[in-house]
Amino acid sequence: MPAYKRYTVTSALPYANGPIHIGHLAGVYIPADIYVRFLRMNDADVIFIGGSDEHGVPITIKAMQLGISPQTIVDKYHDMIKKSFEEFGISFDIYSRTSNKIHHETASAFFRKMYDAGQFIEKVSMQYYDEATGHFLADRYITGTCPHCGYDKAYGDQCEKCGTSLNATDLIEPKSVLSGNPPVLKETKHWFLPLDQYEPWLREWILEGHKDDWKTNVYGQCKSWIEQGLQPRAVTRDLDWGVKVPVEGADGKVLYVWFDAPIGYISATRELTPDWEKYWKDPETKLVHFIGKDNIVFHCIIFPCMLKAEGSFILPDNVPANEFMNLENDKISTSRNWAVWLHEYLEDFPGKQDVLRYTLTSNAPETKDNDFTWKDFQMKNNSELVAILGNFVNRTIVLTEKYFNGIVPAQATLTDADKAALEEMKKFPARIAESLQAYRFREALSEMMNLARLGNKYLTDAEPWKKYPADQERVGTILNVSLQICAQLSILAEPFLPFSAKKIRDMLNIPAMKWKDGDKLNWLESGHQLNKAVLLFEKIEDAAIEKQIQKLLDAKKANIAAAAAAKPVKPSKPEITYDDFSKMDIRVGTILEAVKVPKADKLLKITIDTGLDHRTVVSGIAQYFKAEEIIGKRVCFLLNLAPRKLKGIDSQGMILMAENPDGSLRFVTPDEGCLNGADVK
Ligand code: MF3
Ligand code: ZN
Repeated sequence: MPAYKRYTVTSALPYANGPIHIGHLAGVYIPADIYVRFLRMNDADVIFIGGSDEHGVPITIKAMQLGISPQTIVDKYHDMIKKSFEEFGISFDIYSRTSNKIHHETASAFFRKMYDAGQFIEKVSMQYYDEATGHFLADRYITGTCPHCGYDKAYGDQCEKCGTSLNATDLIEPKSVLSGNPPVLKETKHWFLPLDQYEPWLREWILEGHKDDWKTNVYGQCKSWIEQGLQPRAVTRDLDWGVKVPVEGADGKVLYVWFDAPIGYISATRELTPDWEKYWKDPETKLVHFIGKDNIVFHCIIFPCMLKAEGSFILPDNVPANEFMNLENDKISTSRNWAVWLHEYLEDFPGKQDVLRYTLTSNAPETKDNDFTWKDFQMKNNSELVAILGNFVNRTIVLTEKYFNGIVPAQATLTDADKAALEEMKKFPARIAESLQAYRFREALSEMMNLARLGNKYLTDAEPWKKYPADQERVGTILNVSLQICAQLSILAEPFLPFSAKKIRDMLNIPAMKWKDGDKLNWLESGHQLNKAVLLFEKIEDAAIEKQIQKLLDAKKANIAAAAAAKPVKPSKPEITYDDFSKMDIRVGTILEAVKVPKADKLLKITIDTGLDHRTVVSGIAQYFKAEEIIGKRVCFLLNLAPRKLKGIDSQGMILMAENPDGSLRFVTPDEGCLNGADVK
């Protein structure tokens, strides 16, 4: 282990305005948890900090929409998120929250110290204001038409249709979300952190100082931010939910959520221990922030500038940000319900926390976005966890039960194969440690599985079942060696699969161990009594996977329906007279035949029984209906439309169709009892 006295490990504080999903786990909390468990097994002095981020505009908007207080919302989700983390074994030393008093005090004092030292710029600017409610409007509180794509529900900071980032003043016909009225521009004063002044220092600290140890995705983003030129950034907002700005004349203003939230790491540490300062102020402490890629600028540039300005804190040593985890080839999205929610996962797969931890780690988006699919989840469970790790451990323990009543047999003479297996086994702890210290969690996990593979192969090749009962001594040796490998696995699996590691220890009847114990070759003395075998992992059947896929398909359908429902109904056409209307001869008829018109994607050639005759109509509905499925359908149609030639076919009349706001078509079907030829008027 490198020469650090202690470690402060933080993981991004999730917004308490919704439950958490697999993307959160994969990107931030599982890697952080693996790292911390590993450090603890090395007797490091480490604290693992988490908590809910309870401020910010989206929370206040949600509260307003639901007609409840922001506190009610964050209370609900804080509890829910905290519980999910506990259930998945994310081993925080504290899971705090930013609506706590201690946090308000800490963030306030932090701001005040910087303020007193003259580290902010005060600026008066024009901002949108809702005269009806008396509020300045944050960007998210303003909607209007996007000047780029014409989408009429664009926000003041971004158009979610075309993705362009906007200024509120760019919007056409802006409207306040609060009252629906057009906002007015009004003067307001804010405090800015002059990031531009920190540029030379950031260049030296990051671009030169962390060229080799920060991940390329992290370093690259920092470089591009710094090179684009940094601007002073407002750290206060006109809002009534958040940490009050602790300055005279700042009524109705709070700290910007990205100013207060990272200070939450410090507040949580103060809450955890009176001895908190050593975790934040001693240069021999290593500070590591686990985050997702959308948080990079805040943790690598803005927060470090704040820490540096405040003056008494250490800076992050590393910020191992991950890219994003997608789900079945689509971006995870809370609003579209395109996600695997942790609380729902546990309802469907009780007790299978480690299966998810395994899948998300072996597929972690460490260097690029990755995809979670249910098929892959099933495959990883069935052909890796069950077939390799579970199979090896269970066979070993069951055979020991069967041949030796669950008592560890003695090691007699070791063959070359035995020696080779034991020698190989000894190399794993150092190898895995190296990967973990470099934040390469996928690689570390796959090494752990390689040890299980080694054990599995050793046992299969040694074939103790063929040697029993003729050579009990040899069988004893084989099982002894296999059991040592199981013990080693219980150590090395602990950071990744804590629930399964505990099961292995319980079967082996051994206590939790330290990482360095992995250097021993003989963990289990002969004569040691094991406990009964339990299954480590069980097969996941197709039906369970199909159910999950169906759930996602349902979400997709519901989204399409919701999007269609959100489309406006077309406005009315100009007025006509009764005479205009009565010129149209609309009749009831029946479709007798329908065929696709060759070389025309959209056209069907349809024969209709009009009651007067059988006539041909060419209709542009082939993209919506198959020819065979409309035969026999009752329709209304315009009889006296002037004939026209379409693709060489004479079309005599027109079938009436109803077009939904989303563009989909339906027939206008006459009521039962309408006869062919009936006059529609
Ligand atoms: N709530 C933010 C997000 O979910 C993360 C905040 S991290 C902190 O993106 F450092 F600010 F706390
Ligand atoms: Zn747009």
